[in-house]
Amino acid sequence: MARKKVVAGNWKMNLTPSKAESFIGEIKDKINTDAVEVVLCVPYVNLATAQNALKGTKIHVGAQNMHYADEGAYTGEISGKMLAEMKVPYVIIGHSERREYFKESDTEVNIKSLKALKNNLIPIICIGETSKQRNSGRTFDVVRKQLSVALDDMTADDVKKVIIAYEPIWAIGTGVTATKEQAEEVCAAIRKQIEEKLGKSVADSTRILYGGSVTPDNAKELFNMPNIDGGLVGGASLKTSFEQVVRFE
Ligand code: PGA
Repeated sequence: MARKKVVAGNWKMNLTPSKAESFIGEIKDKINTDAVEVVLCVPYVNLATAQNALKGTKIHVGAQNMHYADEGAYTGEISGKMLAEMKVPYVIIGHSERREYFKESDTEVNIKSLKALKNNLIPIICIGETSKQRNSGRTFDVVRKQLSVALDDMTADDVKKVIIAYEPIWAIGTGVTATKEQAEEVCAAIRKQIEEKLGKSVADSTRILYGGSVTPDNAKELFNMPNIDGGLVGGASLKTSFEQVVRFE
């Protein structure tokens, strides 16, 4: 079966609840489609607002992070169990901004992803190299290691469910998009690694996204590459022209 494409917006720390409601009101009819799975990953405080505003559409809501514990003395944190009860089906894990500013390690990304799956959430697991790593020829090694740790202890069924987002750090928020060839070769290597670990049918089922300065102008060529199953979209998901990213075909 063909993999269904996914276009996930990552709002990051943008839009207050009232702004979120009006923005969703502006775009929802235009991004409501069966052709791709559309997910809006919004700040925690906007989850309920977004769910209400999206009622009656096929658009999903996602969170941008979660803690690995179900509950406990972790002031300021939100658990997967909480997201699950709110019926939030997706959660971004290990975004490079979390890795950089909040020092999230590969191991933490793995533990959070396992916990997300345990709560029936789909983790969107982010991996990607820095410009320094790319320039020194280490892209494939870096991504391989991140993916290997991220998928540790996962079953074949788990890996079929997860979504991997290849996000080269040098492309995030910079306006410097990876070329379709650069993005494809890393996404292909990711799929190959999954195949080595769990076999071809698992590798053929796992969705692998590209993220990093996706725009209405480059979405089509990127998302139509054989190993790229859509995108994780930051800045462009906060504009009404996000519609054109969703309808990239
Ligand atoms: P960008 O962000 O599209 O603004 O580069 C992508 C991301 O951080 O997921």
